[in-house]
Amino acid sequence: MLNKKIADLINDQINKELYSAYLYLDFANYYADEGLDGFANWYEVQAREECDHALMLRRYLINNGIKVTFSSISKPSKSFKDYNAPLQAGYEHEQYVTSLITAIYHEAFEQKDYKTMQFLDWFIKEQGEEETNAEELLRKMKLFGGDAKGLYALNQELAARTYTPSATGPAK
Ligand code: FEO
Repeated sequence: MLNKKIADLINDQINKELYSAYLYLDFANYYADEGLDGFANWYEVQAREECDHALMLRRYLINNGIKVTFSSISKPSKSFKDYNAPLQAGYEHEQYVTSLITAIYHEAFEQKDYKTMQFLDWFIKEQGEEETNAEELLRKMKLFGGDAKGLYALNQELAARTYTPSATGPAK
């Protein structure tokens, strides 16, 4: 049986991951509305990955005999002043998620819950990748997105991103 505080933190993290999916779909809505379907695609794929993260956390609780309880998912409240804004917000959001995962990991360490630490190793690595991806996207946009030709090329590049289920993640 998991320690209650750790179980509660993981339960909350399910909500945070689903919020991440909602946030990224909101970004996708914005870009789709602006005619930037490649950017929209990139965030649609990202949203699906966030749902995978939520499902993995949910499964971990269930596999450990914990009843999962859901709460409301907040409405994304971002309004964007330019095409860079969602990219910046996405990068900051990933840094925030990293801090949440790290806090759960820290609690597991304090409780000597090695099983949960091992489970969370995948998420620690994933967060490193997510932060890198978000930062690279922002950097590319700042470098190349300033004129129509560069923006067109970047939009084409982002249209090529495909979804791969997070099957390599922890099953339980
Ligand atoms: Fe599930 Fe983007 O962190």
